[in-house]
Amino acid sequence: MRKNIVAGNWKMNNDLSQTESLIDDLKNKTKTSNAEVMVAPTFTNLYHAYEALKSTSIEVVAQNMHFAENGAYTGEVNANMLKSVGVETVILGHSERRAYFNETDEMLAKKVDAALANGLRVIFCFGEELADRKSGNHEAVVESQIKNALFHLGVSAFKNIVLAYEPVWAIGTGETASPEQAQDMHAFIRKTLADTYGNDVANGISILYGGSVKPGNAQEIFSKPDVDGGLIGGAALNADDFFAIVNAF
Ligand code: G3P
Repeated sequence: MRKNIVAGNWKMNNDLSQTESLIDDLKNKTKTSNAEVMVAPTFTNLYHAYEALKSTSIEVVAQNMHFAENGAYTGEVNANMLKSVGVETVILGHSERRAYFNETDEMLAKKVDAALANGLRVIFCFGEELADRKSGNHEAVVESQIKNALFHLGVSAFKNIVLAYEPVWAIGTGETASPEQAQDMHAFIRKTLADTYGNDVANGISILYGGSVKPGNAQEIFSKPDVDGGLIGGAALNADDFFAIVNAF
């Protein structure tokens, strides 16, 4: 169901002590918006974060997972292992996974299938490179990423999917997409969904924006009709900044 969501992607940051400290700061914050709040620590801190936050409204989510059930995949974790530590949502397809770990649309389709088959909600990330946008190819790139990884699914699957549009050129750069650029792409994504799955799916899914969202720009971005919140990187590592974004609705 479509709702406002602010998810903090901690990426490869915070050891256990730093995780405990940030969680303590987050627990002291007051949510004044209707947004669902999530944080995504690294694998080594997931269980501790889950235990520390399970009595709060902050959901602990994973940053990734492998598609296999079990086996010879050194260094990987699977859906069942995530569920065993309380995780119910997993981020998949982040541009850093695609760029640094060669995750393809086909591999991501397998990960999405495995996550959904194990009852996990998926935050599916996608977004164009700067060259794609400069050449006017950004919509075609996003359409391809979404269709290749998601459009084999049936209608009912989309109730467990959150989309996260993250223009690669805006991630970690301080170069935020303008609210108009975000709205235009989110509207295009919704139309792309509607054309294949109908308006109920298109209008019932949350589409988050990610890419240099900060306390100073969140409200304007979140005010756009097809933006349902944000996937936050750097600003999620500071409780004051993160909750300034959470409360920007
Ligand atoms: O997944 C969210 C992340 O890619 C955005 O990072 O630092 O630009 O907010 P940042």
